[in-house]
Amino acid sequence: MPELASRDHQKNILPVIDLALKKADLELHHVNAIAVTLGPGLSGSLLVGLSFAKSLALALHIPLIEVNHMQAHILAHFIKENNVNESNDIKNKIPHFPFLCLTVSGGHTQIVKISSVNQFELLAETEDDAIGEAFDKAAKILGLPYPGGPFINKFALLGNPKAFKFPTPQLKNNNYSFSGVKTSFLYLIKNSVDENPNFISDNLNDICASYQHHLINYLLKNLTIVSKETNIKQIAIAGGVSANSELREQLASLGKQHNWETFIPKMEYCTDNAAMIAMAGYFKFLENQFCELDVIPLPRYGI
Ligand code: KG4
Ligand code: ZN
Repeated sequence: MPELASRDHQKNILPVIDLALKKADLELHHVNAIAVTLGPGLSGSLLVGLSFAKSLALALHIPLIEVNHMQAHILAHFIKENNVNESNDIKNKIPHFPFLCLTVSGGHTQIVKISSVNQFELLAETEDDAIGEAFDKAAKILGLPYPGGPFINKFALLGNPKAFKFPTPQLKNNNYSFSGVKTSFLYLIKNSVDENPNFISDNLNDICASYQHHLINYLLKNLTIVSKETNIKQIAIAGGVSANSELREQLASLGKQHNWETFIPKMEYCTDNAAMIAMAGYFKFLENQFCELDVIPLPRYGI
């Protein structure tokens, strides 16, 4: 609900910035530049963030840096952490150029080739719904809360991934399509509930496991083809859906099979976060890539 989202942005932007400064132990006069999302995204929400960022830059006499949200998801891989626990699976390693990134979020499903911090080439994308929508809409049909991806993930852990089958569309150019899968999911549930009103509660874990397994296989199938075609073996994932445990595990095991070096973001950098915007802004800051104060939001900003 775009209107509610933008009102929430207005309500939260000041407390969030106050809290961020406190946590970073900084004051506003320590800040050298303001990085802000120009798009893609919901117009009303982008407008709140952009207007606030412009005012701050103007008041503090510091430069404004515009950031592409999808580039920022990918550049989250370059965030360096202090005190990384080496026993953790996720080490502080960064991809070498060129690398491929499967960027999977609520609004996008893309395979991108990254040749430097400012060279992004879109190699494949969805032709209809995004993968996050495929998760969220299925969750809604099951009566789960929004966003439903994490709930499907949770129930899938306890289910049989082979209990139900879904179709895999074959498109040209390694593009994706999720609308057919979504429709077949809807009909599976509808027809089964007609026969057994308790179908969802009786089979929730198996439904979630099968649907998730299908979606993750489909994502990784095209990614594997693109890796072969480009001969790139540095493979990353990014975006909200990269928090999915099956995607993370399957990517790691595919990596071993195909001799890839894989890059899986820390959980807090998967779903939308400000650190990734700061990271993307930092690379532009180093190149003095500032923008004017008359920039406008770009809800459909391409990568
Ligand atoms: O990147 P993001 O935070 O926001 C956008 O830019 O869209 O992605 C949000 C999406 C939602 O569709 C949400 O259901 C999905 O990421 N998501 C997940 C998981 N965690 C978040 N999907 C599947 N499994 C998860 N664990
Ligand atoms: Zn996002």
